[in-house]
Amino acid sequence: MNEIQICMGSSCFARGNKQNLHVVREFLRERGLEARVVVRGGLCHGRCSLGPHLIIDGHAYEQVDPNACLDLLRRHAESEGAG
Ligand code: FES
Repeated sequence: MNEIQICMGSSCFARGNKQNLHVVREFLRERGLEARVVVRGGLCHGRCSLGPHLIIDGHAYEQVDPNACLDLLRRHAESEGAG
């Protein structure tokens, strides 16, 4: 996992990306990945109706609540470890 883009547009931010940003920060800190993984807070990704929207290493994810966010982070971190 190299890059996480979190939509900071008002719709996504209000619907869950505010919490997701904390989830991401916490996850990276716990695993000591802060220096390796770039976190970008982008402007509206143009998918508001399907937000909260996240992009992890180029993979776009829709309707990401904080639980799903943690799940995605684990999956990306683990697939890297395995491969
Ligand atoms: S506000 Fe996130 S896609 Fe538009």
